[in-house]
Amino acid sequence: MPKAVVLGAAGGIGQPLSLLLKANPLVTELSLFDIVNTPGVAADLSHINTQSKIEGFLPPDDGLKKALTGADIVVIPAGVPRKPGMTRDDLFKINAGIVRDLATGIALTSPKAFVLVISNPVNSTVPIVAEVLKQHSVFDPKRLFGVTTLDVVRASTFVAEKLGDPSLAPSVSVPVIGGHSGVTIVPLFSQSSHPLPANFAASDLEALTTRVQFGGDEVVKAKDGAGSATLSMAYAGAEFAAKILRAINGETGIAVPTYVNLTSDPSGGEALKKELGRELEYFSSIVELGSSGVSKILPLGKITEFEKKLIDAALPELATNIDKGVSFTTPSK
Ligand code: NAI
Repeated sequence: MPKAVVLGAAGGIGQPLSLLLKANPLVTELSLFDIVNTPGVAADLSHINTQSKIEGFLPPDDGLKKALTGADIVVIPAGVPRKPGMTRDDLFKINAGIVRDLATGIALTSPKAFVLVISNPVNSTVPIVAEVLKQHSVFDPKRLFGVTTLDVVRASTFVAEKLGDPSLAPSVSVPVIGGHSGVTIVPLFSQSSHPLPANFAASDLEALTTRVQFGGDEVVKAKDGAGSATLSMAYAGAEFAAKILRAINGETGIAVPTYVNLTSDPSGGEALKKELGRELEYFSSIVELGSSGVSKILPLGKITEFEKKLIDAALPELATNIDKGVSFTTPSK
């Protein structure tokens, strides 16, 4: 009987994401929390004739606690989006504090919930949530996920475009690994379910890779000061949440790229670390889901020299982003 909660539910991502969760038949109860407008958003969505019960909460009168009570899955799109010229890391100072406070609420009220972090920079906000949960002695790495699905969605769409057949997009599957900003995003086109054309030039592959890594910039630029990706992100977030809900529901064999703590893997992600040639606390790889969350982190498998170079370029930045998140919650800093 999953209860889903959206924190930041009145925002550009939060509203359409809440709509898609209201439409998901696996959700039986939906709670919306934000610092503004949630009663209105909840009233609007409450008229939709799907099975779930919905309620909106604001901070007064313990709103966060009420929203989180009994939560099975908490999705966090709270925070500020990027404006032109801002990097995801520029967002850090504002969003880090927001995410820390919401994570404290989760630790106190729904410590067993699956937590899906959308707020950027994901490379750092996921470690922040983990550190807060650790401070409250309720951290279960199997239940914490950074949502990188938008990168996967973009990669699939762009491959279908390159194949000249947009109708293929729903069936194209491209693993995207690493992290979730700029060069830390590593699409593995060599493992695409639908290979790129044989005559695809190296320069085309580079351009396609850059487009996935910086696809968010296209949207930020086109929105011209009105924010970053919201609708595509809501779709991607709902897709990821739907997979988690199916796994909670007992479905097996679901594997999906997501940014996780490597201790969520039964062997501590040893196989992956060996492939990467580096110790790392967090990484986005293909993860097999079970009813308790991460059941296994899959190794990368066969990759090309080009992809190896991309990973080598990603790792130092990823490590810096992780440190930034971890040290944000360290009291002495
Ligand atoms: P938005 O500004 O439209 O919405 C954010 C919402 O968070 C607002 O309604 C705001 O009131 C709320 N909020 C702020 N502080 C809060 C708090 N303490 N508690 C609860 N709610 C709070 O922003 P948008 O476009 O929805 O983006 C949200 C976040 O998602 C940003 O950090 C953005 O960078 C990130 N994002 C992540 C992506 C991903 O692929 N993971 C893709 C696109 C955006």
